[in-house]
Amino acid sequence: MQRQVLLSVAAVIAFMLAGCSAQISSFERVPYNGLAKTPPMGWNSWNLFANKIDDHTVRTVADAMASNGMRDAGYIYVNIDDTWEGVRDAQGTLSGNQRFPNMKALADYVHSKGLKLGIYSSPGPLTCARYMGSYGHEDQDAVTFATWGIDYLKYDWCSAATIYNYDDGLQTAYSKMGSALQATGRPIVYSVSAYGTANADKWGAEVGGNLWRTTQDISDTWDSMIGNIEEQVSTAPYAGPGHWNDPDMLEVGNGHMTDDEYRTHMSLWALAAAPLLAGNDVRTMSASTKSILLNSEVIAVDQDPLGKQSSRIKKRDFEIWVKPLADGSVAVGAVNLGSASIQVTIDARDLGLSGTVENARDLWEHREVHFSRNAYSATVPAHGVLLLKVSAS
Ligand code: GLA
Repeated sequence: MQRQVLLSVAAVIAFMLAGCSAQISSFERVPYNGLAKTPPMGWNSWNLFANKIDDHTVRTVADAMASNGMRDAGYIYVNIDDTWEGVRDAQGTLSGNQRFPNMKALADYVHSKGLKLGIYSSPGPLTCARYMGSYGHEDQDAVTFATWGIDYLKYDWCSAATIYNYDDGLQTAYSKMGSALQATGRPIVYSVSAYGTANADKWGAEVGGNLWRTTQDISDTWDSMIGNIEEQVSTAPYAGPGHWNDPDMLEVGNGHMTDDEYRTHMSLWALAAAPLLAGNDVRTMSASTKSILLNSEVIAVDQDPLGKQSSRIKKRDFEIWVKPLADGSVAVGAVNLGSASIQVTIDARDLGLSGTVENARDLWEHREVHFSRNAYSATVPAHGVLLLKVSAS
């Protein structure tokens, strides 16, 4: 009798645990798709063009990227954001709207330039700009995207909030599309975009995501940019080859920050191992915008194969961000948060290197610099950055 009671207690506990774990893990874990071993690089239409994007503009952007050095520097993805969507036919197949009359032909064109094409949808019925979303058509849309030759999908939460809950609803919604993409057999980078809600950094990789937004939308201001990067301190452990934190797209060249601020923006994104998705008009870049987006030494920090995200050390009137690199050196950025220029000193003891630090390279000035007694000092302008690659011997 006593044994029977024990058995039934055990059965009840087992039942509760099963029920509980079913609730916790009601989403399907999606295996890694093998893509984005380094943070994705490319361009996205939203920051500058928003709903004023069309087939012709995308083609001319691709032409520019293939000829202005961007493609060769690694900016491979040409990503159409929201507002391309048209209607579904009687079978439920989605097509582009009047501004995107033939998505397959557009993909062929972009591919002919040695670039890849990205697209945008939502797990909800409507996108954030209230165009058609993928809810109820996830498998079908994944197949449509693959048939067109799409290489990258940004999947944006938006109206999915009306369908799914915030406990495990995001995981359910995102894993549905993650597995649908993989079932197509086409390599498609998967960008989870839920603006930093629901801790996507902690589960983004489990739903098949290669990157996930960790912040609200960026805008072309110092406060927005620096605010987004400050939020990356806690996300650092979740970055690594194949899966990246995404503090949102670049604003470099959009005209509302100074060149010093844009250099800081680019440096901090590289230190954070963030996706580098230019958000400006790459067809008409100024020489200084070009020199920022195309600085190969800074891009190399972002694309370092170790895939570590930087950590932050706060100093009195500046902060430094330190990113370990695959060759045993570190990239270090000292950012002047103030509105007057200051002298910053990098203390070699903050960098986690073992050995003597003597030589370093200034990645914006493109020259060697020298530490003396474990320290290097330089003047950094308001909102500017000193970015070094430092190794020990
Ligand atoms: C959201 C996203 C943006 C952009 C717009 C499009 O706001 O965060 O990046 O994709 O939707 O509507």
